[in-house]
Amino acid sequence: MAVRIQQIYKYYGDLHALEDISFNIEAGDFFGLLGPNGAGKSTLIGIMAGLVRASRGHIQIMGHDVHQQWRQARQVLGIVPQELAYDPFFTVKQMLRLQAGYFGLGRENYLWLEELLDILGLANKANTSLRDLSGGMKRRVLIAQALVHKPPVVVLDEPTAGVDVELRKALWQFTRQLHEKGHTIVLTTHYLEEAEALCNNIAILNQGKLIALDTKQKLLDYYPYRLLRLSLTSEDEVNLPPALQEKLQSFQPGQLVLKLHREHDQIGAILESLRAAQIHFTDLHTEEAGLEEVFVNLTSKASV
Ligand SMILES: Nc1ncnc2c1ncn2[C@@H]1O[C@H](COP(=O)(O)OP(=O)(O)OP(=O)(O)O)[C@@H](O)[C@H]1O
Ligand SMILES: [Mg+2]
Repeated sequence: MAVRIQQIYKYYGDLHALEDISFNIEAGDFFGLLGPNGAGKSTLIGIMAGLVRASRGHIQIMGHDVHQQWRQARQVLGIVPQELAYDPFFTVKQMLRLQAGYFGLGRENYLWLEELLDILGLANKANTSLRDLSGGMKRRVLIAQALVHKPPVVVLDEPTAGVDVELRKALWQFTRQLHEKGHTIVLTTHYLEEAEALCNNIAILNQGKLIALDTKQKLLDYYPYRLLRLSLTSEDEVNLPPALQEKLQSFQPGQLVLKLHREHDQIGAILESLRAAQIHFTDLHTEEAGLEEVFVNLTSKASV
């Protein structure tokens, strides 16, 4: 077991930031921790890191209690924080050496630091001050910093927020490689296609509560819909027959998207009703609902 979370509560005054959160993350898993803004993800990660004190409950990382065995727990954990916080006057290399120093690592670890700079495309920035780096570069430094001590468990709190498409892809590949090397990965992200592509197991938090915990596949299966996208011949408003109105997912001039039940709705019958209603189209395609639809469905249901 890489991470064991037992009945965690966190109160900030009256605010219940986390309420009775329990789940485990198996060693070697690629785990997605998802939820809307303010759900409590970073708070939970802060508790894992020993930076935030839980009001109640326990967390163990690789068997070490984050509170009682803080040092051991910290050694097996690398955290890439959501916020870009750094000392502007250090160079990249100094920063990494300093960070490694916290873990009692010295010269013997320098080779690994060089390697990290290399893998993360920071080699030519090694002697640049952090304040002179772009946002995406700083993000890479934070990732390097989390890995200086080769922790078996790596937690990334929105590592791809605000980074360009290219870097985002590079970071995906990098975390995939870490995972292949045997690291347990915990990823928080608002890019659901990212979670869908990478994660095996997923927990969804909403307003401090755990509202879903399952394999990615089960979560996807749980939501038995697909989307039918139609390019219409006209940009006019459409007049959907009542039976189709409840299936309307979205309408933009010239574009109609219907949400169909995988089993109960027959495409043939749907097209027939469209024709009867004089709604003509030039193109159509269907797609399975992805994690994004599952997520929106779960989180909007829970908040009413
Ligand atoms: N130090 C603090 N003092 C008071 N309230 C806090 C503190 N830290 C977090 N909160 C509150 O706890 C709740 C959970 O915040 P948290 O940062 O964990 O959310 P999150 O899921 O990481 O959101 P995001 O997706 O925006 O990063 C929010 O309502 C937030 O305002
Ligand atoms: Mg957060």
